[in-house]
Amino acid sequence: MLVDNAAWFDYTNYSTTAALFRRPIRLLSLLGGIAIFYILVIFVPKAPETLYGFKYVKSSYDWSALPQAHPVAELTPLPTGTPRSIPQVQYDFAAHYRPNSTRLDVLAERRQAVKDACRKSWDSYKKYAWMKDELKPVSGGSKTTLAGWAATLVDSLDTLWIMDMKDDFYEATAAAVTIDWETNETSFNTFETTIRHLGGLLAAYDLSKERALLQKAIELGDMLYAGFDTPNRMPVFWMDFNQAKRGKLQPNVHDPTSSVTSSGPEFTRLAQLTGDSKYYDAIDRVARFLQRTQNTTKVPGLWPTFLDMEFGDLTLENDFTLGALADSTYEYLAKMHVIVGGLEPMYETMYRQAMATVIDNLLFRPMLPEQDDILFTGDLSVDAATGEKTLPGDSQHLACFAGGLFGLGGKIFGIQEHVDIGGRIAKGCAWAYDAMPTGVMPELFSLFPCTSLDGCAWDEDKWELKGNATLARGFQNVDDARYLLRPEAIESIFVMYRITGDEQYQETAWRMFQSIRNATETDLAFSSISAVTTAGGTAKIDSMESFWTAETLKYFYLVFAPPDLISLDQYVLNTEAHPLLRPTGATGS
Ligand SMILES: *[C@@H]1O[C@H](CO)[C@@H](O)[C@H](O)[C@H]1NC(C)=O
Ligand SMILES: *[C@@H]1O[C@H](CO)[C@@H](O)[C@H](O)[C@H]1NC(C)=O
Ligand SMILES: *[C@@H]1O[C@H](CO)[C@@H](O)[C@H](O)[C@H]1NC(C)=O
Ligand SMILES: *[C@@H]1O[C@H](CO)[C@@H](O)[C@H](O)[C@H]1NC(C)=O
Ligand SMILES: *[C@@H]1O[C@H](CO)[C@@H](O)[C@H](O)[C@H]1NC(C)=O
Repeated sequence: MLVDNAAWFDYTNYSTTAALFRRPIRLLSLLGGIAIFYILVIFVPKAPETLYGFKYVKSSYDWSALPQAHPVAELTPLPTGTPRSIPQVQYDFAAHYRPNSTRLDVLAERRQAVKDACRKSWDSYKKYAWMKDELKPVSGGSKTTLAGWAATLVDSLDTLWIMDMKDDFYEATAAAVTIDWETNETSFNTFETTIRHLGGLLAAYDLSKERALLQKAIELGDMLYAGFDTPNRMPVFWMDFNQAKRGKLQPNVHDPTSSVTSSGPEFTRLAQLTGDSKYYDAIDRVARFLQRTQNTTKVPGLWPTFLDMEFGDLTLENDFTLGALADSTYEYLAKMHVIVGGLEPMYETMYRQAMATVIDNLLFRPMLPEQDDILFTGDLSVDAATGEKTLPGDSQHLACFAGGLFGLGGKIFGIQEHVDIGGRIAKGCAWAYDAMPTGVMPELFSLFPCTSLDGCAWDEDKWELKGNATLARGFQNVDDARYLLRPEAIESIFVMYRITGDEQYQETAWRMFQSIRNATETDLAFSSISAVTTAGGTAKIDSMESFWTAETLKYFYLVFAPPDLISLDQYVLNTEAHPLLRPTGATGS
């Protein structure tokens, strides 16, 4: 079964199917397992049963009964031992935060405004798109974008809980536990399903302790686990149902980096909640792959935007970014350190190495007339022939999460420089919001990068020659003017507020919220828009992805909430803003 050139991967603890068949007892139990499995498939009950107080519908295919075609001889267990103490992430609000009653009223009003936006979005989802993936916020229809597993519903469960919309939460929970993961699609996106559905179910369980949600999460986890059943145990990005059921999945040679390396916190939490090592084993192998390859790329320390998961050769890739395609790979390094209780050292090593390289290669300070002390993360390309690196000054709304990444990593590993950088990135995104006529940042844009992070003199001639005169001074261009209801900017503002306790972040958040609401609101809900560069109204795109209620509105709500609501010292938020309980926080729940 093994491909020779895949021997590069670490095969310790790993047995092949061939080895299995050399052992008669294992072969017998395997055949027995297959027989039981087919009996189960044929007779599996589809009618609802009452489980943990809900009418529960079991998925009509039981992935937990599917034998692994490429089994692991010895599963790597969760790290054992007493969780190490991790430095406090949040500002010491208890000791220093004494808001007066005026301030408390202001914050309560703002929370209410955010909740109203969520209520409006949710009510329309219920009315027009119940159990579908997405609401069409202009026309009132629905969309199936992620295999039809009610993406918005599952993704929003914990938001409903956090905003104290408990009736809606229980109604949605009752619906979520009837989802059948069997679908008429031939394949599905394992990344989106992991971060939205698995993350959503686990967080909803962690908050509500409703066992039926955990049961649904386990069903899904077992399906996703099948995506790791390849000859070298590296996961697939799109999982073909038939190939998976026949044990025929193969890793690919060109997958988006974040898509195949971002299951760590979700699978770790599932392993912790079930006591089943297989979930942790699956993602631990991927993390070790990242560790082995980190120094082998054209920019040692960084992983490129695409990975070869079959042979592990990353030496030919030329593009590096913290934005789309690679984002959560970097985001999850510090978050994994936290969720395993600091007991697995490789995550800190990878974080330090990666972020030092990011600072030297991907960050830039833009040339601006007011000398604003802000930073952006750019897209680096390496010339295949000469090896020359260029960072043209492009940035993306998606990359705004990096403020939170640096802030959080800086606190967790005690690196003040990273906390400062996180603040400068968060403020950069806020600046880009303010610089647009709608008060909302575009999807893609370019600035003039200074060569030093300490800044550079304003060059009026350069700006007049190469800048776009219709935009604020400092912009080279807006390359994609849409706003897609994305969360990354408010995510970083929220994290930096919780870290510093600085009320200026709350004021920024309120400005951003009002602008977004004003620019995107429809009769039914809120919609992506085609151009943030057009003051006084722009075309609505009739799209409201599930992250609007799952992430964007949740972060806006939390930034105005008492700081112990989803404290970052108690929870790790996955890349879809789903709060998973931290080991050390378990006692405080
Ligand atoms: C209440 O606190 C805010 C800042 O949080 C401050 O601006 C305001 O002046 C204070 N109001 C009173 C009445 O003390
Ligand atoms: C797949 O299922 C969806 C929802 O049940 C249905 O609308 C669609 O027509 C089905 N597609 C096919 C190809 O059967
Ligand atoms: C990668 O390179 C850096 C800098 O040369 C070094 O400090 C680090 O130990 C290397 N990491 C690995 C895993 O070899
Ligand atoms: C300048 O920016 C505006 C707004 O994004 C755009 O419509 C226009 O095409 C840009 N001009 C040039 C020369 O790129
Ligand atoms: C709200 O949007 C309208 C156009 O849609 C614009 O004219 C107005 O200035 C905006 N108001 C605020 C406060 O952003």
